[in-house]
Amino acid sequence: MEKSKEKIRQEVFELQKKINKWDEEYYVLDNPSVPDSVYDIEFNKLKKLENEYSHYFSYEELKKSPTQNINGKSLDIFNKVKHDKPMLSLNKAYTIEEIEKFIKNIEKITTKYSFFIEPKIDGLSISIKYLNGKLVQAITRGDGQIGEDVTNNIKQIASIPKEIDYKKNIEVRGEVYLSIDDFNKLNQQLEEQNKPKLANPRNAAAGTLRQLNSQIVKERNLSAFIYYVVDCEYHNLDTIENSFLFLKKLGFQVTKESKKINNISEIEQYIKQFKDTKQHLNYETDGIVIKLNEVKYYDELGYTSKFPHSAIAFKYEPDTAITTLKNIFITVGRTGLVTYNASLEPVELSGSMISFATLNNFQYIEDLNLNIGDLVYIKKAGEIIPCVIGLASVKNKDFDKRFNKITQCPFCNSLLIDSETSLEQYCVNENCPEVKRRKIVHFVSKDGMDIMTIGEKNIDLLLNNNLIKDIVDIYKLKDKKDELLKLERMGSKSVLKILDSIEISKQKTLDKLIFALGIKLIGAKVATFIASKVKILSNFLSFDFNSLIEYNEIGEKIISSLLSWVKEEKNIKLINNLIELGLNLEYQETKQNNKLNNSTFVITGTLSKPRSYFENLIIANGGQISSSVSSKTSYLLAGHDSGSKLEKANKLNINIIDENELLRMLEINK
Ligand code: IVH
Repeated sequence: MEKSKEKIRQEVFELQKKINKWDEEYYVLDNPSVPDSVYDIEFNKLKKLENEYSHYFSYEELKKSPTQNINGKSLDIFNKVKHDKPMLSLNKAYTIEEIEKFIKNIEKITTKYSFFIEPKIDGLSISIKYLNGKLVQAITRGDGQIGEDVTNNIKQIASIPKEIDYKKNIEVRGEVYLSIDDFNKLNQQLEEQNKPKLANPRNAAAGTLRQLNSQIVKERNLSAFIYYVVDCEYHNLDTIENSFLFLKKLGFQVTKESKKINNISEIEQYIKQFKDTKQHLNYETDGIVIKLNEVKYYDELGYTSKFPHSAIAFKYEPDTAITTLKNIFITVGRTGLVTYNASLEPVELSGSMISFATLNNFQYIEDLNLNIGDLVYIKKAGEIIPCVIGLASVKNKDFDKRFNKITQCPFCNSLLIDSETSLEQYCVNENCPEVKRRKIVHFVSKDGMDIMTIGEKNIDLLLNNNLIKDIVDIYKLKDKKDELLKLERMGSKSVLKILDSIEISKQKTLDKLIFALGIKLIGAKVATFIASKVKILSNFLSFDFNSLIEYNEIGEKIISSLLSWVKEEKNIKLINNLIELGLNLEYQETKQNNKLNNSTFVITGTLSKPRSYFENLIIANGGQISSSVSSKTSYLLAGHDSGSKLEKANKLNINIIDENELLRMLEINK
């Protein structure tokens, strides 16, 4: 049955409104409220409806739809700059058939074509101009026509060369991103500082690039992949592949996974392979980009107002799924923090079956308006813990049966306490069995004392059999060998392994132990800092923590958390017991490797290993890389067939070294 005209019109206007709102959140506010995959589903729904029922709408009504123009308007902080050439978006394909259609269109013009395939980096696009080899301007995409001048911030990004060995004026484009490692580090820091965490690497990168303080940009370690040279032909670049090689030679970071491909079957193969590869990359991708390799056909193929006909983005199945919220249950963490969790009708998500997801706190459930029985969207956050991210459809209209905020700890029944912001709830009962259990799990964890032979299952086994009650008891297990051997599933080998790894943990350093204690607000980084001041565990209880206030790393909240921790009788006992048991651990400085003392290196000629090997080696030892020889260059690392750079270095009287000399400097034996 065909839906009525009015119904369709209403549905389309609602979708337009919703997508306009999401566009604004994504492009302008850098704060999307829905994942890309949900956006894509709704965007495509709108596009389909507008196509199918275009006769129901006036030209103006369709023209103003978000499917017809790019919505990213700029904020008012940075100077607005018009792009010389607009920065377009890409059309999307979800199936091989859609890619075939894209190729058929190319075949109308030529049969002699190839493709260049690249990961689609999930970051922010940027256009960078070099005049006479110097970086002079960097502009964000903005609405595609006008962007923001973020030159100073872009200059803080180590992987973007400030100078290149190329004198013609050139504009290059690429994507600024935050690596997954750096994103996790940043969130850990924010958590330690009691600040809200960032949703994903893209948001973190966007927020960072908009910082007015360039120092923060530098600290957060943004990176950039460059994938495009504006006006290729002016620079004698006939293919995208050659542009890539050219960019790489100039010292830009390009994606290693990109390659030339000849036909649709190779495209299919790449799509299959990359599905696996992308799970292991240190940057987030939202698909791949397939570009016609031969640039000379680009203008003839033409452009729409939104995208070129010479390239297309392929998107993988969304890593979002829809399933039924079967139940809501509560977990309590080592700090007593209460978490609400969803138990779900099992559903496949990015290759694994998901039956549980986090719901964070009660407010989160209220904000998303969720109720048991409803259909919900779930997503994998940072590839590990799935999270419920939205309500897909209301199934439970019975408002009397809504899920209520809990007031008591489900493990010990004590009354829960609200946090200052009222967002979080805590169980503050010292004897809560769950909090105790989670403390032990944290103590033995990898970043703590790293006693990984005792996993969560073994901890439960030990607790249930009364072999341990707390952390200290772990170190007394060596006197309980016989009881251990009597336990289910415990052979003599595994008992030996466990006891060995407990003994080995006594050789750890003080920072690990301070972190393992699980003191509120003390994450790994702060623990290391505190250890560097406290020096040895026996100083810990009497240490003047107030004296740490002069350091940037430590705020008042951290100090008061430490002060109240060391005042508690049970903690005093714990520390003294640990010392007695042979854990008077000391701080050990990890030496910063700075053998190269910030010297700047330029590399030229053919070397015995890829250039990237030497670049990484130099950077790892505290040196810097530049692409062109200048008076600021400290060393020229020259291989065979070194050309103009060698000449220039000679003229400027710069130290010229070979591979062996570099290895000697680094005290590496070949
Ligand atoms: S080419 C004319 N290549 O995706 C199109 N874009 O949806 C020029 N992106 O605005 C873009 N990785 O921000 C291209 N390897 C890649 C990309 C890439 C990410 C982004 C870029 C662009 C958006 C289009």
